[in-house]
Amino acid sequence: MSAILPGATLGMLGSGQLGRMFAIEARRLGYRVHVFSPDSDTPAGEVANASWIAEYDDEDSLKEFANTVDVVSLEFENIDVQALHVLEQYVPVRPGPLTLHTAQHRAREKTALRNMGLATAPFHLVHSADELSRAQQELGEGILKTAAWGYDGKGQQRLSPQADAKSVWQNFGTDEAVFEGLVKFRCEFSVIGVRTEAGDMQLYGAVENAHANHILDVSLAPAPSVPESAVQRAQEMTRVVMEKLDTVGVLCIEFFLDEHDEPIINEIAPRPHNSGHLTIDAHYVCQFEQQVRAICGLPLGTTQQRQPAAMVNLLGDLWPVHGQPNWVAALSNPLVKLHLYGKQDARPGRKMGHLTALGDSVAAAETTAQSARQSLLER
Ligand SMILES: Nc1ncnc2c1ncn2[C@@H]1O[C@H](COP(=O)(O)OP(=O)(O)O)[C@@H](O)[C@H]1O
Ligand SMILES: [Mg+2]
Repeated sequence: MSAILPGATLGMLGSGQLGRMFAIEARRLGYRVHVFSPDSDTPAGEVANASWIAEYDDEDSLKEFANTVDVVSLEFENIDVQALHVLEQYVPVRPGPLTLHTAQHRAREKTALRNMGLATAPFHLVHSADELSRAQQELGEGILKTAAWGYDGKGQQRLSPQADAKSVWQNFGTDEAVFEGLVKFRCEFSVIGVRTEAGDMQLYGAVENAHANHILDVSLAPAPSVPESAVQRAQEMTRVVMEKLDTVGVLCIEFFLDEHDEPIINEIAPRPHNSGHLTIDAHYVCQFEQQVRAICGLPLGTTQQRQPAAMVNLLGDLWPVHGQPNWVAALSNPLVKLHLYGKQDARPGRKMGHLTALGDSVAAAETTAQSARQSLLER
């Protein structure tokens, strides 16, 4: 395969913040970017050279889009693989349908991981109240998750061992789900990997993640609570997943660190990940540049970190009814970097941007990031 060189046009399915940060890196590297999504006035569209506004099942538009780009990548996994099959007739799609098909559906994802011999939370596939009841008997307390189209805790319900399977299943409103036993974890962390078509791979170090209301809140790197042996094991597992799924591009695995300091896979995202945003400021080569390099067949960059870092997400909740958060106060510490995604509408729970702080230690970086976010509320 010959490399897709700067000057070429890169296609992006999806137009949110991940597509935006991809487009910024791609344009810095001298590429043109076309985005495709059903939405107008989007974070990615704002920095792309062109936007295609159409549904993912609009095959005529997909074909027209494909004919304007040299390769297609994606920023989220909830796209019907049929769209990828259509695009693939005209242009390389990276990652391809196998990675997407596996990662977008919890039942397929969990089953694939089990078949790869990799540790996951104990789980049962559930298609009925009876199956749910049996799963509860075996696993006790757990979380019921819809098989398809879930994100940021949507489509999930935590069940006590006494929860009535019949009424839970009736209200859950899906015909396929995964019931997972509750993992007693020491912490959550993620590993981001990148792989080229030729099979070259690079792995970032572990990032430790804390969630609030099922949405990522804080990421720390290097992960303070994850022992080096667990980081290495998690990196090996990420390598196996990328190889088995023949992933070309960036892939993130969310892990639990269990009571024995062993990594257990929670879920796979076949794309750059919120926990990797700190790589923009803290690493020589960020996850979005790696995505560009991987899909274009360029040599991968180093995953080496320059300095300890902390990232805090900025949700719409931080916005006052009138006006803006206090950006001046947050930036008064010169080690704080601000990233905003260009979203007009600051709804509660909506990811509007993030702050990254660097420091001599992760603890110092976290203190800086947290106090910068707090100062956004100063009037
Ligand atoms: N089996 C489990 N045991 C304990 N906690 C869990 C389990 N599954 C999910 N969680 C918690 O819920 C969060 C969201 O679940 P996840 O499967 O990652 O869904 P999402 O797609 O919404 O990110 C996880 O980050 C973790 O904090
Ligand atoms: Mg998750």
